Amino acid sequence: SRLLLLNGPNLGILGRREPEIYGTDTLADIEKAVAEEVADRGWTVSSVQDDSEGTLVRAVNDHPDTVGAIVNPGALMIAGWSLRDALAAYPRPWIEVHLSNVWARESFRHESVIAPLAGGVVVGLGAYGYRLAAKALLHLVPE
Ligand code: DQA
Repeated sequence: SRLLLLNGPNLGILGRREPEIYGTDTLADIEKAVAEEVADRGWTVSSVQDDSEGTLVRAVNDHPDTVGAIVNPGALMIAGWSLRDALAAYPRPWIEVHLSNVWARESFRHESVIAPLAGGVVVGLGAYGYRLAAKALLHLVPE
């Protein structure tokens, strides 16, 4: 079984992207952490990061066979309507993650257009939030 790990715009440069906000872990570190969390269940991780919404839409549509997904939409949280519609059609549980506490930041980050569809949302816990999201999926998906 495969878990889909989806990261939106500007998340490919994690590690050197405003580390005081997003921390120093790279996307590769995060992929490794998620893979570690789910290994015991026999799940592997399919990781897709892209700066374009269309590629993320395609990734969601191309992975209906995954067990679930972890999604950090980046700034697409604000107006990513086509990503939202793709996730609405995604047949498996998925968790939204934001490294930073979006509610402690600018008001344009206070609402996510995808959050109402998410099985849960993890916010403000840095890279550890992805581990928590992985644990949540292990909990949500029956063995
Ligand atoms: C983010 C928060 C978003 O508002 C921002 O646009 C990002 C990263 C986070 O993980 O904290 O790109 O999703």
